[in-house]
Amino acid sequence: MTVPPLTPAGLRCAYLVNPLGVAPERIALSWELQGEGRDRRQSGYQVQVAAAAAGTAPSFASPVWDSGRVDSADCTGIGYDGPPLAAGGRCAWRVRAFEADQAEPAWSEPAWFETELDPAGWQGAWIGRARVRESFTPPTGAFDPMRHALHPAPYLRRPFSVDGPVAAARLHITALGLYEARLNGQRIGDAVLAPGWTDYARRIPYQTYDVTALLQPGDNVLAAVLGDGWYAGFVGFDAKRAGAHYGQAPELLAQLVITRADGSTQVVVTDGQWQASSGAIRRADLLMGEQHDLAREPHGWDRAGFDAAGWARVRCRDRDATPLVADPGPPVRVTQEIAAREIISRPDGTAIADFGQNLTGWVRIAVNGPAGAGIRVRHAEVLNPDGSLYTENLRTARQVDEYVTAGGAEVLEPRLTIHGFRYAEISGYPGGLRAADVVARVAHSDIESAGSFESPVGWLNQLYANIDWGQRGNFISVPTDCPQRDERLGWLGDAQIFVRTACYNRDVAAFFAKWMDDVTDAQLPSGAFPDIAPRLHLDWGGAPAWADAGIIVPWTLHQMYGDTTSVRRHYGAMTAYMDFLARANPDYLRAHELGHSYNDWLAPGGDDKTPHELLATAYWAHDAALMAEIADVIGRPEDAAGYRELRARIGSAFADAFVTAGGEVTSGTQTAYVLGLHMGLIPGDLRAAAARHLVAAIEAAGWRLSTGFVGVGYLLPVLSAAGYTDVAYRLLAQDALPSWRYMIDNGATTIWERWDGWSGENGFQSPQMNSFNHYSLGSVGEWLYRFVLGIDLAPDGAGFRRLVMRPHPGGQLRQASGGYRSVRGPVTSQWQHDGGSFTYRVTLPPNVTASVRVPSRDAAAVRDGQGREPDSIAAYPGAPGAQEAVFEIGSGSHEFTGPALAADPAAAGAQTTEVAGNA
Ligand code: BGC
Repeated sequence: MTVPPLTPAGLRCAYLVNPLGVAPERIALSWELQGEGRDRRQSGYQVQVAAAAAGTAPSFASPVWDSGRVDSADCTGIGYDGPPLAAGGRCAWRVRAFEADQAEPAWSEPAWFETELDPAGWQGAWIGRARVRESFTPPTGAFDPMRHALHPAPYLRRPFSVDGPVAAARLHITALGLYEARLNGQRIGDAVLAPGWTDYARRIPYQTYDVTALLQPGDNVLAAVLGDGWYAGFVGFDAKRAGAHYGQAPELLAQLVITRADGSTQVVVTDGQWQASSGAIRRADLLMGEQHDLAREPHGWDRAGFDAAGWARVRCRDRDATPLVADPGPPVRVTQEIAAREIISRPDGTAIADFGQNLTGWVRIAVNGPAGAGIRVRHAEVLNPDGSLYTENLRTARQVDEYVTAGGAEVLEPRLTIHGFRYAEISGYPGGLRAADVVARVAHSDIESAGSFESPVGWLNQLYANIDWGQRGNFISVPTDCPQRDERLGWLGDAQIFVRTACYNRDVAAFFAKWMDDVTDAQLPSGAFPDIAPRLHLDWGGAPAWADAGIIVPWTLHQMYGDTTSVRRHYGAMTAYMDFLARANPDYLRAHELGHSYNDWLAPGGDDKTPHELLATAYWAHDAALMAEIADVIGRPEDAAGYRELRARIGSAFADAFVTAGGEVTSGTQTAYVLGLHMGLIPGDLRAAAARHLVAAIEAAGWRLSTGFVGVGYLLPVLSAAGYTDVAYRLLAQDALPSWRYMIDNGATTIWERWDGWSGENGFQSPQMNSFNHYSLGSVGEWLYRFVLGIDLAPDGAGFRRLVMRPHPGGQLRQASGGYRSVRGPVTSQWQHDGGSFTYRVTLPPNVTASVRVPSRDAAAVRDGQGREPDSIAAYPGAPGAQEAVFEIGSGSHEFTGPALAADPAAAGAQTTEVAGNA
C-alpha cells in the first residue's frame, strides 16, 4: 500500500497569509505538512516563485526563482534567493516536499505575496482639512471638546472616472492619525485603527487593499474619514495631546493604482483635487472617546453624484523623507461580538450593560426614537460596591462615547477609538434599554489563536482564559500594558516576561516582528534599549528587565518560529546595547546606567527587597547567553565566543557578589532565587541548596508567592525544573492573597495589574495605578504549556523541529489536555492520572520529532500503545527521586501508559509538606 505524499498546507510569507505588501528582506516562507501515518519527515523541498501581474494567473513554467531540490527538513524561515523582485509586484509561490523513498510529490496550491512599493514610487501629497471653528454642544458634557482641543473628524473625498474594463486595482493607503477608507460608499477592508502605531517620525506603516471589486465603470469616489489616533490625539500618561509627540492634525496619503484590462494603468493619488468637510463625528480620540451628532452626517458623501458644493479644498503638504513601509504586522479588527448578559437598571435612571467579560473594543447600540436625544455611554472594568461604575482608575482618560440622534432607527457606534471595559453605563436612551439593543464589539490586533488548555478544574480553565483575554485586549498594534487608563504604552518589561506565553497563545510572529522595529526605532543614542516603544518624547531607557526585551524578544521569536529574520535584522541594535552595558559596568556587575530601574515591579505588598544590581546583573548574564546563541545561529562564531566569555565573567561576578557558600542568594527574596536559578547563575553544586532555600522562602510566606512582574514569569518553571512541581501546584492553587486564584475568586475575567487590585480587606488599590487588564502576571501561561502539558522545545529544536514532551502532573489535577499550533503544524498533549496509572497521549505533525518523557514511579513498566518498551530510563527532573520513561517519536498519534508517579494525585499533594519539611 502506498502512502499519499506529504502535502504542504498553510503557506505563509512573513507569517501572513497572502500578504499584499511585504519588504523583500522580510520574505520568510513557511509551510506545514499534512500526511497520515507515523514518522513522516520532509527530506527535501523545492520552492518556486513566479511573477504574476495583478489580475493574471501565475505561470510556473518560467519561475523567477526555483530553489531546485534542497535536501533539508527546513520548512520555516525560507528566504527568497532569486533576482531582485520588482517593487509593488505580485508573485505566486508554491512548494513541494520530498520524503525519503517516496514518489515525486505534487506541488502545493499556490500562495501569493506582493512586494512593498518603491519608496520613490509614491506620488501623492499628505492631505488634510484646514481647521475651522464649528460649534458643537456635547449632549451631556462628559468631556469638554474645547478644553480637550479636539476637532471634528475630517471627511475627505475625491471623484474620479474609470474608463475601460479593469483587471485589478490596489489601494496603498496610510494616515498620520487613523483612516477609515471607502470606495463608492463601501468600507475598504475591515481593519480598524489603521495604519496602527509606530514612531511616525521614523517610519510610517501603510496598508495595501485589493479594491478591484469595489470599482465601477464611469464615475467613482474614493473617500476617507480621519481620526487623531496616536498621531494627534491623547497618548500615554502625561495627558497631553500628541501634538506634543507627533503632529497637530491628521493627514491622509493614498495611491490607488488601477490596472486596465489592456495593461495600461491609471493612478489616483492624494492631492489638491480632493474635497474636505466634516460629518457626524464631531470628536474622536483614543483615550477620551467619541462624540457624534448624527443629523450632521452628509449621507451619500462617499458616492458619485453627491453634491459637494460647500466642501472645501484640502490642505496639501509635501511628503518628506520619512520611510513609508508596508505594515509587517496584522491589522486591528473586530474579532467577536458579545451580547449583554444583563441590563442593570440604576436608581439614577441609567442602565448598565454587563458583558460578562473585561474586553477591549466598544459598544454598538440600536436606537429608534426622536431626533435630538442625547445618549451617553461610559465604560468601566469593574463596579463600585454601590453598583456604580468604578472609573477612578482611568486617571485622565475618559473613554466616553456620546451621541445626538437624528431620529428614527439608527445604529450608534464609535469608529476611531477603543475602550477597555466589561460594563457600559448608558444614559439618555429613549424608552427602556433591552439586552438585544446593545452588543460589545471586541477589537484588537487580529492574531490567530494557536494554543489551548483544558482541565477538569474550573478556576484553572478560567485562569487560562484570563491570560488569553489579557493578551487580546492589550495587543493593539503594539503590546500595551493596559487598554483603559491614560497609558496604553508598549512597555518592554511586560513584553519580555510575557512573550513566550504570548507565542503559545497566539500566532504572534508578525506582530512582534513589527514591534521589534518600534523597539529599535526607540533605541537611545547610548545604545540603551528604551523602557517603552514607541517611546513618545520620553528618553527613558536601560531599565533592567525592560530594556533587555530588545534581546529576549527576537531570541524568543527565533526559538518559536525557527526563523532568523528578526535576530539578523536587529543584530546591530542588540550588539550596540551589549556594548552600552559593558561600557557602563567594567567589573561585570550591572550597577550603573540602570535608568528608571523598576526592579521586580509591583512585588506584593509594596515589598520589593530584591537588590537592583542583582536583578540587573542576572538579566545581563541572560542577555550574554542569548547573544552567544544568536551569534551562532547567524554564523558569527567569533562574536559567539566573545559573548560566552562575557557570560562566564558576569556569572562569576554574580556568584561572588550574591551567592553564599551555602547556596543562599542575597536578600533571600523569591525573585532573587528564581533569577539565579533560571539564568544559571548559581554554581552547579549549590543549585539544589538554592532551590531548597527558595522553597523555604515560599513556605515562610505561608506557601504564597512574593514575586512582582519580573520574578513571576520564571517562578513555577524554576520550581518544576528543580524537582518541586508539587510546590508549583501549591502556589497555583493558593487562593489567599497574593495569588492568581484570588483574582479569579473575585470575578476577574482578565489578569489584574496588581495582586491586590481589589481585596476584601482594603477594597480597591490606589486609583493612581490599578488596571484590571494587564497581562504581565499572566506569564504563568508559559508554565501551563511547557510544564503542565509538557510541550517544550528541545535545546536544538528551534522552530518546533524537535520537542521534549514532558508532562508535569501534580497537585490535585487528574487530567489536562491542550495543544499548540506550531509553525510546523499542530502538536497536542493530553494526560490523565487515575487509579495509580498515568496515560499520556501526544500527536505530532509531520516533520517534527520529540523525545517523550513519561514520569513514573516505575519507568521500566511504561509502554506505548503498541507495547513498545521505553528507549531509555532517566531521572525525572520534576520531582525528587522520580524516573521518566523516554520514547523517541515522530509524527502521528501516540499513547503511553504506566504506573503514575504516586498511586493517587492526592498523595502527590501530601508530598508537598514532606518536601517542604526537608527544606
Ligand atoms: C505600567 C507597567 C510598566 C511599569 C513600569 C506602569 O505604569 O503600567 O506595565 O511596566 O509602569 O514601571
